[in-house]
Amino acid sequence: DKAGYKHFMAKEIAEQPAVIQNAITKYLDEAGTGLNWPETLPDFSQVDRLTMVACGTASYACFTAKYWFERIARLPVEVDIASEFRYREPPVTPRTAALFVSQSGETADTLAALRYVRDKADHVISVVNVPESSIARESDTALPIHAGVEVGVASTKAFTCQLTVLFLLALKAAHDRDQITTEQLQDHLATLRALPGQINDALTLSDALRDIAHDLSDASDVLFLGRGLMYPLALEGALKLKEISYIHAEAYASGELKHGPIALVDPTVPVVVMAPRDSLFDKTVSNMQEVIARSGRVILITDAQGRDEAAEDVWHSLALPTVPEVLTPILYAIPAQLLAYHTAIAKGTDVDQPRNLAKSVTVE
Ligand code: F6R
Repeated sequence: DKAGYKHFMAKEIAEQPAVIQNAITKYLDEAGTGLNWPETLPDFSQVDRLTMVACGTASYACFTAKYWFERIARLPVEVDIASEFRYREPPVTPRTAALFVSQSGETADTLAALRYVRDKADHVISVVNVPESSIARESDTALPIHAGVEVGVASTKAFTCQLTVLFLLALKAAHDRDQITTEQLQDHLATLRALPGQINDALTLSDALRDIAHDLSDASDVLFLGRGLMYPLALEGALKLKEISYIHAEAYASGELKHGPIALVDPTVPVVVMAPRDSLFDKTVSNMQEVIARSGRVILITDAQGRDEAAEDVWHSLALPTVPEVLTPILYAIPAQLLAYHTAIAKGTDVDQPRNLAKSVTVE
């Protein structure tokens, strides 16, 4: 049931404030100031390494979470895509926890990777949307993301709910490892509780994104750039766009621009720059200026301050609500999704059932 929306994807994008709220509530105690986890989760002070494995969009949730676990919890993380991990037969060192992220919980490569580490890692954790799935059943602890059924082939609400649960888990790890005080934990939880409202505000930018998408839909190639927490988001934005609009899109870490992709820049290749006014903003803006200097057309996705400081010579810009830097990936997923959605509409492609793709990839 599309509940009055034209597509499941539109409905699922719009549901995000509610389902993220739901995911947060499920992992908070009754007072809303502390975390509430299954007892089977490890004490992360006893863990020296976290290995995260997934495919596609779920792997971008892992790449985002790496920044959280390493920065907030000081826990070394490696992220791998499941199809590579499973055949490389990587050594698993003592005191390693393995974490698998999957919306369906049935992705063949992710399940095979889980089976490979099951008797090698100290703990096997999964972050899934389907609690009775194979991946959930075969892990020591399954953490449901509570996103509700996702029908659109392009993952939207599952991605932001995965991020929400992974952020909460990074806070637990940080607290277990004495990297944050109880008070700092509560501050993080308070800012997270404000996020669904800010996501609601971001959704009101849908019309502005439709106008941008209208211009974007003529392109045959699009570049996405981001640094730090925005790098995995750039990857996600590019994946979403290519999946449903069939426009070729590629993402790079902004710092990689001059190591190759800048050769592609010309007026026919729009460049989407994802850059909240964070600690890396100036670096990203200087990469953006290099694009503009080569007649590249920039779509700058930022916040009000970022727009004031850097939007002068860009083609389009969009100002999102201002949120703490650690939470920007969850918020900036919204314009990435809406840009892809409206571009697909402008091109007349099948948004919910893009060609050649299946919702659940149970064969490798
Ligand atoms: C992209 C998308 C895919 C999935 C991937 C993993 O929009 O939906 O990239 O993220 O196939 O699927 P799950 O999460 O079910 O393991």
